[in-house]
Amino acid sequence: VFVFPQESQTSYVVVTAALEQPLQNFSVCLRSFTDLTRPYSLFSYATKKRSDDILFYMAKPNVYQFSVGGKSLFFTVPGGLAESEHVCASWESTTGIVGFWFNGKPWPKKGLQKGYTVGNEASIMLGNEGSTVLGNEAAGFMGEMSSMYLWDTGITNSGVLAAMDNRPNQTPVFGWRNFPSRIVGEVYLKP
Ligand SMILES: *[C@@H]1O[C@H](CO)[C@@H](O)[C@H](O)[C@H]1NC(C)=O
Repeated sequence: VFVFPQESQTSYVVVTAALEQPLQNFSVCLRSFTDLTRPYSLFSYATKKRSDDILFYMAKPNVYQFSVGGKSLFFTVPGGLAESEHVCASWESTTGIVGFWFNGKPWPKKGLQKGYTVGNEASIMLGNEGSTVLGNEAAGFMGEMSSMYLWDTGITNSGVLAAMDNRPNQTPVFGWRNFPSRIVGEVYLKP
């Protein structure tokens, strides 16, 4: 588990994996645990094209924001659970269809950015997002994050459950356990 112990705009994890390919399909999953009530960023995918080409964000309590190429969808989830939350989102360019799963359950499908391609030369930032680094927004995460994966394909319900179990049934292009990452500020990797 990555622990982000303080409310900070300057603590985050940057994945140093080389993500050279543009994406026409992808899925992303992660688990987080926090009692923050302000907005915060979970997963940001910056490319040569734009700083948040993919963004997984908490827009307000119980409302996840999922953005592709600067366009966003919002998914409302049950509140007051006082436990960690597992989320996955998927997107495919051909139809623009977005899937969202909360604690393993699929939410109604929606769509955005049909025909778009997510850029290349990507870098992943966990617990903050690109514009924060430029000093634009207070989006720093505080709490625990784990089980982060990114695939360059769609994902099935059983794939989501496998990822929840930290046993992804497809090889991810990014997986939190075996990818070199650089910690900036105060973030700790704890069992
Ligand atoms: C993306 O997904 C679509 C629909 O599932 C598929 O037809 C297409 O070949 C995929 N593209 C890539 C680059 O994997």
